[in-house]
Amino acid sequence: MPSVTDILETMDYGPAPEQNSHVKEWLALHSHGFGHFIDGRFVPSAGRQWIEVENPATGEVLGRVPQGTDADVDAAVKAARKAFVSWSKLPGHGRAKHLYALARHIQKRERFFAVLETMDNGKTIRESRDIDIPLVARHFYHHAGWAELLDSEFKGYGPVGVCGQIIPWNFPLLMLAWKIAPALAAGNTVVLKPAEFTPLTALAFAEACIEAGLPKGVVNIVTGDGDTGAALVAHPDVNKIAFTGSTEVGRLIRVATAGSGKKLSLELGGKSPFIVFEDADLDAAVEGVVDAVWFNQGQVCCAGTRLLVQEGVAQRFIAKLRKRMEQLRVGDPLDKSTDMGPLVAPVQLARVTSLVKKGESEGGTLLQAPSPLPGKGSYFPPSLFIDVDAASTVMQEEIFGPVVAAMTFRTPEEAAAIGNHTRYGLAASVWSENINVALDAASRLKAGVVWINSTNLFDAAAGFGGYKESGFGREGGREGLYEYLSADWLKDLRPGKVAKVALSGATAGVAPADGTPSIDRTAKLYVGGKQARPDSGYSFAVKDAKGKVIGQAGLGNRKDIRNAVEAAVKAGAWSSAAAHNRAQVLYFIAENLEARAAEFAARLQQGGVSAKAAGREVEQSLARIFFYAAQADKYDGRIHATNSKKQTTLAFNEPWGVVGLVCPDEQPLLAMVSLLMPALALGNRAVVVPSPVMPLVATDFYQVLDTSDVPGGAVNIVTGARDELAKTLAEHDEVAALWYHGSAEGSAMVEKASAGNLKATWVNGGKTFDWFAAEQAQGAEYLRRATQVKNIWIPYGE
Ligand code: NAI
Repeated sequence: MPSVTDILETMDYGPAPEQNSHVKEWLALHSHGFGHFIDGRFVPSAGRQWIEVENPATGEVLGRVPQGTDADVDAAVKAARKAFVSWSKLPGHGRAKHLYALARHIQKRERFFAVLETMDNGKTIRESRDIDIPLVARHFYHHAGWAELLDSEFKGYGPVGVCGQIIPWNFPLLMLAWKIAPALAAGNTVVLKPAEFTPLTALAFAEACIEAGLPKGVVNIVTGDGDTGAALVAHPDVNKIAFTGSTEVGRLIRVATAGSGKKLSLELGGKSPFIVFEDADLDAAVEGVVDAVWFNQGQVCCAGTRLLVQEGVAQRFIAKLRKRMEQLRVGDPLDKSTDMGPLVAPVQLARVTSLVKKGESEGGTLLQAPSPLPGKGSYFPPSLFIDVDAASTVMQEEIFGPVVAAMTFRTPEEAAAIGNHTRYGLAASVWSENINVALDAASRLKAGVVWINSTNLFDAAAGFGGYKESGFGREGGREGLYEYLSADWLKDLRPGKVAKVALSGATAGVAPADGTPSIDRTAKLYVGGKQARPDSGYSFAVKDAKGKVIGQAGLGNRKDIRNAVEAAVKAGAWSSAAAHNRAQVLYFIAENLEARAAEFAARLQQGGVSAKAAGREVEQSLARIFFYAAQADKYDGRIHATNSKKQTTLAFNEPWGVVGLVCPDEQPLLAMVSLLMPALALGNRAVVVPSPVMPLVATDFYQVLDTSDVPGGAVNIVTGARDELAKTLAEHDEVAALWYHGSAEGSAMVEKASAGNLKATWVNGGKTFDWFAAEQAQGAEYLRRATQVKNIWIPYGE
């Protein structure tokens, strides 16, 4: 037996196991197997296959759940559709009461949920008890509030319909709450598929739904693996898919939903930087790494697994970190003094092991805590790689295990450059005692969440979600609610017709036979602030409404789009310009357009509209430019009231960067202005593909841009075949968002082709917008879609 002196020296402590008999009793009640939760009750599966659910700490089978079939998914969707009729009509106050009741029920069963989660997932009881489950309850409380306020805070928006929700295994009940609470608050009904490794707390939640008196069919839960998930994604009567999981599956879902009209939000992988500046509180930062990487065994999408330490303190910091790592206790997750439990399943252990081996084979030095590991279960020790470079596997791949890779940097510029050197952009953590240094880094990092002198903080009041291949859409907060809402006017859109333009009259350096102006007077493309000849050397004939050739426009191709994107990438100064300056440039554009109003009206008349209609279109375009000039310095962010006393959370509306804007045929000036101005006002650089029917309106417009102090590259115009150019934009990795107005087939093509870098798309689905109607063509929806929200968490006080 150790003496008191021994204990004081080692600070070792005995086991403190959490009691789990009540969970075992519950499992025993279901020993014959669980059912799906459909239409308010548990029902057997239409199929015969079962999935065994194991405790990753022991390998013991906890129960079995059905592998959901297409028929099961269909039954659940039907129940959700039926329930949608009355749930969506229930006044917000009624929905608020239901959400509140769910929150209360979860709180009443908090310990049960925590123990079950730990047994199912392997996460330590300290985490499930102190973090996961309290946050689940908080999410339902918070969204009970949104249900109450929906009508006043989201005027003109309504529910999307039936939502298919697919969640991963790393935070099973918390991810369920992140999905179900906002969906229900907004008046949607749901079919949720939990991950095959961890379905048990979702089924216990289903019981809570019954107890709390939630109307049947509002929440449906179908268990199963990826095939069940794919069936839910493919179901024609689902209006929205919300997915959290791997980037690979996110990409499959983007392709599967392309052209279906389903709304989509994706919360995917990450490889987040954890940046320690030399003036940081190093001991606090070491604790930060513990929370960033070894929390939940590193199975966290926003884990700070790329540790970047400023050179001057690197040696000292790594020494402290190694010491701390050695003190971590790995073992039984139900023991309250355990720091790290097992990984979720043997397959995950094999994956982590193989990625770590790869890191070693590439020359990285692996340091591991000598903590003894239990004899059975999927355990992996806390691990730290040093001697790696920015491009190595362990610095680039999401390992999803307790492994961090460390590098040094010299300057803040270098920290941001390495920090952003990843296809992901979910989160970042910045450590410095100098607020200037910390906020400067936060502004440079391309990530949806930045924690300053902190890490892995979550709250229902702040949005969470990524930049780049970490997905699109936010969960939580006001911004997250939009993912479950649809603007009322979208329902009023009519199917449109896209004019078939034969670009076959293409000419190469010769004047067409019908006496139109020679090729020398062909309108050029507009790239990097200069007129540019199309790469093809070809142009196409532009005809008026009567079919008479009125001019030539450049026939742009893939190369021209690539040049335009390159010019837009280089024009980054536009994004960091002061909003006031951007507003001034927009006003200047309006001023110069007004000076040429008659000329533009005449050009529009060539498209077959009356003089009056053409004049009205120019006038409306001027008003629209003024609207967005006004918004440039007014569409600002918020301070979220996150649940923490000494913490402020700043939600910034950041521009995407480079956006592609593919314009419709109708009202060619007004439509182009309606798409370009919100993007430009909020700091994006644009590549515009004008209507191939009336491209000369756009090429006339670059003369206005030229005289309005628009910096070269902020706006680029490439004329040519709409869908061909749109495809290149959709496939381009440097284009972060793409708005497309064209045919239904073109919309599907764009969504599908965008899966490469998972850019955010907004397509018209072949419908026609009324560009004169302010509610359809101007305002909140455009401003919101022109930006992405970055939440920066800042602590204060000592
Ligand atoms: P996964 O992405 O395959 O699974 C997540 C969810 O998607 C599960 O519910 C699964 O059943 C479902 N799913 C799988 N294929 C589907 C499909 N074709 N259509 C619809 N739903 C589908 O992740 P998995 O295989 O469990 O883990 C593999 C790796 O993914 C991990 O090692 C980790 O790197 C990453 N991952 C990232 C997560 C994140 O939050 N960023 C969460 C889970 C995994």
